[in-house]
Amino acid sequence: MRTAVAFDTPYAGWTPDDHRTQMEQELAGDEHEPEMEYQVAGALLDQGHEVLLVGIGKDPRVLLDLCTSWKPDVVINCAESFNGDGSLDHLCATLLDAGGYRYTGSAPLALQVTRDKAMSKKILAFHGIKVPPFVMYRTRERVTEPPPFDFPLIVKPLAADASVGIAKASVVDDLAALTDRVAFVHERFRQPAIAEQFIRGRELYAGILGNDERLQVLPLTELVFDKDKTEPEQRIATQAAKWTETYRERWGIRTVFARPVSALARERIETICRTAGRALWLRDYSRIDLRLTDDDEVWVLEANANPFISEGHEMANAAAKVGLSYPQFIDRIVQEALARYSRE
Ligand SMILES: Nc1ncnc2c1ncn2[C@@H]1O[C@H](COP(=O)(O)OP(=O)(O)O)[C@@H](O)[C@H]1O
Ligand SMILES: [Mg+2]
Repeated sequence: MRTAVAFDTPYAGWTPDDHRTQMEQELAGDEHEPEMEYQVAGALLDQGHEVLLVGIGKDPRVLLDLCTSWKPDVVINCAESFNGDGSLDHLCATLLDAGGYRYTGSAPLALQVTRDKAMSKKILAFHGIKVPPFVMYRTRERVTEPPPFDFPLIVKPLAADASVGIAKASVVDDLAALTDRVAFVHERFRQPAIAEQFIRGRELYAGILGNDERLQVLPLTELVFDKDKTEPEQRIATQAAKWTETYRERWGIRTVFARPVSALARERIETICRTAGRALWLRDYSRIDLRLTDDDEVWVLEANANPFISEGHEMANAAAKVGLSYPQFIDRIVQEALARYSRE
């Protein structure tokens, strides 16, 4: 199987061989966690794929030029942005569609809709899935009145990911704080802001593998906080809570396999994942971020059509729990894509 790994890179001008050398260095060393695309490529090599590393820098034509000459059987899409712009993360999929190549993961429409936290919530609500009520404020639009639901709210950039723009100050208790935070999001991130009702509850992540009747909801991951050190409104996945080890230790934050949930909650989560997967046209692999309240209500915070799949993180750990080694997990994503194309 000839599998190309496509990804965004700041190293414009690097050839596949340059990336191969860099990949070998990063995978052999143990100082830094290797880039996701290199981990994915390493896993594919382990599973017997022939691999071409296609780094997309400033010139998107590189992708189709390399595909034309190398003729991959399938492309694994690891692009998270284009030229530093996350809102163009769909470009790689768009070009692959235009070139007629088979690739893993969601199509451009799903990548764009799920990036917009308001648009995706509207679709989920249409399908009867519980989502927090929200108000969207376009860039430069001012807050003039309290939203028609109760504080506290959480204010987020409309189209960011990886907890960019999420901090303790994102949770607001009154109109003045809401006004300030919305203005901050506009200025700092140059995009609309969404203010959602804050949902108190456990924070769960559900990984999804496969499509249609093969769709599998992986074991749940939970972000847990030390309850003695934090208030419910502080138990959120801020950037620091996700990525800063010292901060995680201080507040007792850990990412673990979810503690038990009731049979009812489990069933609700399963149904939500299947419904959301279809409603948002998710393909092959994805992750739904959820909140589970004390009375077993399940709320969707967002759907990730292009989740992080590095080893040792939520998706890969959940796959390991159902018996897939990291290379098997990555190979499985490719097989799910191929199976999907063979049914089309
Ligand atoms: N409506 C909400 N109620 C409670 N917590 C929220 C809500 N929305 C977001 N959060 C917290 O903020 C985190 C990041 O929000 P999310 O919408 O998943 O953005 P990102 O795309 O950055 O992951 C969530 O994981 C959760 O901890
Ligand atoms: Mg999230």
